[in-house]
Amino acid sequence: TGRRALSRRTFLGAGAAGAGALAVPLLVRAAQGEGGASGITLRAAPGRVRLVPEPYGETDAWCYNGGVPGPEIRLRQGERVRIVLENGLGEETTVHWHGLRVPHGMDGVPHLTQPPVPPGGRFVYEFEVPDAGTFWYHPHQRSFEQVGRGLYGPLIVEEHEPLRVDRDITWVLDDWRLTSSAGINGDFGHPHDLSHAGRIGNTVTINGRVPDSVPVRPGERIRLRLVNAANARIFGLDFGPLAPLVVAMDGQPVTPHAPDGGMVVLGPAMRSDLVLDVTGEPGSTVQVVDRFYRGQEYRLVDLVLDEARLREMPPDWPIALPANPLAEPDLVNARRHEVILNGGMMGGMVMAEMGGSMGGGGSPGMSGGGMMALMHEGGIWFINGRAAQGHVLEPMLSLGHGRSHVIAMTNATAWHHPMHLHGHSFRVITRNGVPTSHREWRDTVLMAPRETVEIALVADNPGDWMFHCHILEHQEAGMMGVIRVA
Ligand code: C2O
Ligand code: CU
Repeated sequence: TGRRALSRRTFLGAGAAGAGALAVPLLVRAAQGEGGASGITLRAAPGRVRLVPEPYGETDAWCYNGGVPGPEIRLRQGERVRIVLENGLGEETTVHWHGLRVPHGMDGVPHLTQPPVPPGGRFVYEFEVPDAGTFWYHPHQRSFEQVGRGLYGPLIVEEHEPLRVDRDITWVLDDWRLTSSAGINGDFGHPHDLSHAGRIGNTVTINGRVPDSVPVRPGERIRLRLVNAANARIFGLDFGPLAPLVVAMDGQPVTPHAPDGGMVVLGPAMRSDLVLDVTGEPGSTVQVVDRFYRGQEYRLVDLVLDEARLREMPPDWPIALPANPLAEPDLVNARRHEVILNGGMMGGMVMAEMGGSMGGGGSPGMSGGGMMALMHEGGIWFINGRAAQGHVLEPMLSLGHGRSHVIAMTNATAWHHPMHLHGHSFRVITRNGVPTSHREWRDTVLMAPRETVEIALVADNPGDWMFHCHILEHQEAGMMGVIRVA
């Protein structure tokens, strides 16, 4: 392709080969159970997985059903599903169905929507899936460590009439901090990660393997579902000459368009569905490069074009997805709310928003002992002047049930934050005061340093819902609140 060869993001360096084709996660085809509900069991427990190829060793991880990622759960839109969680870990856990608009009691947030599941315990989740799209599941208990050790899996809800493609592929991306013997570095919750960009690792996997190459066929059309399951790493994927079109964001259809800035940006927890027409010479190779962090680009994976063409020209099948049944917010009559994000390191100091005053740059920074004291109290990051501590959370905002709301968010920090709201999808309507070009529905919106973003939604799912940064170290260090819909 004429592009500079880049090494893979792994401690193994570029020399290690032999990973072979990507391991495809186990597919759980939901079987009809009693009462018409599909029955699935997810068992969270320690396990050994092969993240990096031989001759390196296997990795002790925490797994759903023995694997990383956990099984791909495939459902049909509108289907009712019953999923039993069994806890084989040595600590409490739950499962949160990220992006699925489920009833409050099924949302999997310990102490807020259910009691945590003790070691040896179980919990039965049962709900309908109103929206088709690409979703995922993960624990909501000590997520920074439980997700970071491998507890996550994809959840796909198929449209009544799925897009016509040759292959429908899911890539769950993750970023691990491994030791030189392929073990997981146990420094979860390190103060530097809590106060900076989060736990950025040294090894990137797709579907639980350091990727090598993926065979594709010239002329074929692929629906590629991307899920970012990393604690903190933001991906910016560049497919070079292949020019994929984005057809859904966070599971919700969007008018098909080329990725803004030429790369598919995925903050933690975010998803993108792409339609990828494989064009190019048989036998050639296309590098997929992650170039989100300036000066740190690396080759994620090679797409190797088969010698045989599947067809001469890309197919002319339609690629627009049908909309999901989301209520359209009434922007004229919407109630307006403000959210301000503060905290984190700035100029070598922890910027702390003390005493609940909003806006401004926060109190004078502190460093060293001050930072340790703040962390001891559980807060480095603040939403509207408050850092969440422990699990007792008074609502930071109340949204009238059934009404339209605009939430104007300001990121007053020096860091990116993927902000996630449970129980709802919202439209992203402006960025820095400028209307967005795609007016995309999302459940997680990535905010750049100093950026302002307005989102709009109809608060149609009653309950107390988590609202937090999905950089899991930021969530742990206070960037979390509760939004009441009543
Ligand atoms: Cu992906 Cu509050 O979660
Ligand atoms: Cu954050």
